[in-house]
Amino acid sequence: MAKVTFLSGETIPLEMHKVRMVQKVNLLPVEDRLDRMQEAGFNTFLLKNRDVFLDMLTDSGVNAMSENQYAAMMQADDSYAGSETYYRLEAVLQDMFGLEHFLPAHQGRACENIIAQTLVKPGSVALMNYHFTTTAAHILRNGGTLEEIIIDEGRSIQSTHPFKGNLDIAKLNEAIARLGRENISFVRIEAGTNLVGGQPVSVENMRAVSQICRTAGIPVVYDASLLADNLYFIKTREAEFADVSLRDITREIASLMDVIYFSARKLGSSRGGGILTSDTKLFAQMRELIPLFEGFLTYGGMSVREMEALTVGLRETLDLDVINQTPIFVEAMCNELIAKGIPVVTPPGGLGCHVDAGAFCDHIPQSKYPSGALASALYIASGVRGMERGTLSEARNKDGTERLADMELVRLAIPKRVYTYSQVKYTADRLAWLFENRHLIGGLAFEEEPSVLRFFFGRLKPVGDWPEKLATQFRKDFGESL
Ligand code: F0G
Repeated sequence: MAKVTFLSGETIPLEMHKVRMVQKVNLLPVEDRLDRMQEAGFNTFLLKNRDVFLDMLTDSGVNAMSENQYAAMMQADDSYAGSETYYRLEAVLQDMFGLEHFLPAHQGRACENIIAQTLVKPGSVALMNYHFTTTAAHILRNGGTLEEIIIDEGRSIQSTHPFKGNLDIAKLNEAIARLGRENISFVRIEAGTNLVGGQPVSVENMRAVSQICRTAGIPVVYDASLLADNLYFIKTREAEFADVSLRDITREIASLMDVIYFSARKLGSSRGGGILTSDTKLFAQMRELIPLFEGFLTYGGMSVREMEALTVGLRETLDLDVINQTPIFVEAMCNELIAKGIPVVTPPGGLGCHVDAGAFCDHIPQSKYPSGALASALYIASGVRGMERGTLSEARNKDGTERLADMELVRLAIPKRVYTYSQVKYTADRLAWLFENRHLIGGLAFEEEPSVLRFFFGRLKPVGDWPEKLATQFRKDFGESL
């Protein structure tokens, strides 16, 4: 954000771009929102976009693209093999990260599939700051397990720690000593740790992890999907890097890793994914799987047009005015909510604003999915679609019992450069109303429960008639207002 001071002394997030293409959105009356939520089985993934006012489900594949990204799409070289588009993308990635080899894949979880198939042996353990849903699923699918070694502050919802995504070095050393190097498939560092509230990892921490792993001969895998936010936090919170360019910070991080992968639905604001490594042997092993699961080596399941957009999007990721928009909006939204007494994850991270559904709905037990209930209630109250990030997003234990999440969160993702400040303020206002009426929100129970990644397609029903009561109260309090 440009350094601009307002006459009043107030600061608001100032957009460093102008909007030149728009999409109309609908805000349905509360009675219709109630019907749509019921039809969607109280799962925000199953809502139709036409019924959603502000889509804060995710920033994945829905970030605004720049004019230069659209322009680049027009010069895509559409060919199965040897496309110029591929070589342009490869060159930008090599320059940005300084690693030798690049493998394209159709999205982030596809990279996870390739990496897990290559590195995870049955019975092995992957150590990581924190899991992501798809990451965990691929490790388990290949017969491995995982252990999370995030610092204790990472699991506390409210904190002032600037890098809550850091790995705990004592836990890392202990795990290596206990498990034995040969039983550890890899150590994974997730930038902008998604499921604990988009919390960053410091370069200092990555240096320490890398040194230990290199001494022990354990590969370090870096999930760079949320690198943009993490770079912003390194630049603004880690004193050593205040005057270091984003490219040099990226290169320093990359030099500490053995494998880097990313979802281009997040990094580079396009769609697709990729894996980078300088390890020639690992590269050869992973390369064999690309034509099998993704596509030929010069597109890997991506459209060439998206690859061109990604090439430009990656370059733009190294521009602070581009990448600071999300964290600054997240901070502004969190501050609005905190001022209204609503519990959120602090310090504000990247990706989105994370509401503490456990505290918000402390009358709903975890087994009745408070985060799912709050996400449903928010849609009914506002037409805003958030994402459940709590017990519903966990897989059951092998014996069928619930694995209760460390945190019950509702994530309100802020797709890059998509929403305006007044839309953020509207969301905060409706959340404030919901907070005043939180006793009206009740729990949820499964009606249809898929066995894998159940949060995507699962259908639920409310415990009691609380959704109707909530809609009635809304009408009473807001009159004719949408
Ligand atoms: N790693 C991280 C940290 C992610 O946030 C995601 C996706 C993936 C891997 C998988 O990438 O979707 O391209 O296959 N996160 C999305 C989200 C889905 O909504 O946070 P993908």
